[in-house]
Amino acid sequence: MRVTVNTIREMKQRKEKIVMLTAYDYSTAKLVDEAGVPLILVGDSLGMVVLGYESTIPVTMDDMIHHTRAVVRGVRKAMVVGDMPFMTYHTGISDALRNAARFIQEGGAQAVKLEGGVTVAETVKRIVDCGIPVMGHIGLTPQSIHQLGGFSAQGKTPEAALRLLDDARALEKAGAFAVVLELVPAPLARLITQELSIPTIGIGAGPDCDGQVQVVSDLLGLYSDFVPRHAKQYAKLAGEIKAAIASYISEVKEGSFPTLEHCPTMDEKLLEGLKRS
Ligand code: KIV
Repeated sequence: MRVTVNTIREMKQRKEKIVMLTAYDYSTAKLVDEAGVPLILVGDSLGMVVLGYESTIPVTMDDMIHHTRAVVRGVRKAMVVGDMPFMTYHTGISDALRNAARFIQEGGAQAVKLEGGVTVAETVKRIVDCGIPVMGHIGLTPQSIHQLGGFSAQGKTPEAALRLLDDARALEKAGAFAVVLELVPAPLARLITQELSIPTIGIGAGPDCDGQVQVVSDLLGLYSDFVPRHAKQYAKLAGEIKAAIASYISEVKEGSFPTLEHCPTMDEKLLEGLKRS
């Protein structure tokens, strides 16, 4: 049975930790789904980890729909959440509704995520009122990186902490089914988690959130040059992939790959008479 918003709500009620992981393509999504992850986020982090941009800001709706469709084709059970990219929900309610609808109708996702709290609460309400589940995202909101002045922790003063609590409450009131807390100090994340009836999903927000989300490329160690503090590498695939490619290069060069078992056979007698002399 497909995971739904009800499944996610019930997990918080049962105090069962909620696991979310990003995926951006068919084959990874299939593995993540088969491993039993209930929430798959097609994050706009794909701008950085798949498309090679320096931030998420250049990511477009068309990029997101393209990757969401690929992910959805690989998923049988998990709930797929599409991340609304920069400025696709700020230029008016009708733009926000049209773009959220594209994720569901064209992308095949079951929910959307958008960044912001009080300032996007009305937009969240209008999207939810149309029957589209919305996940909020507060704390470090990478789409506001220029305004925030860098990828740094949020909510560290009493005033900033209160603002984040207000943001979380506004999202809950607007009908969001869950809220991501990114780079929020653990004691504040714990307080927000206790205050909300909807689940909090943390990334760099400590162990007391109702769930955790990680970027799949970080978790699998696809990059060896930079590991964010909030990430844990459960594998170091960059090294393994490079070693596999190096073996391929040397086997092709020395002639040990391919062997005859890697190609079709035929009766060589059929070639008799085809040689020039
Ligand atoms: O885009 C993304 O991957 C995200 C997660 C870090 C929550 O927003």
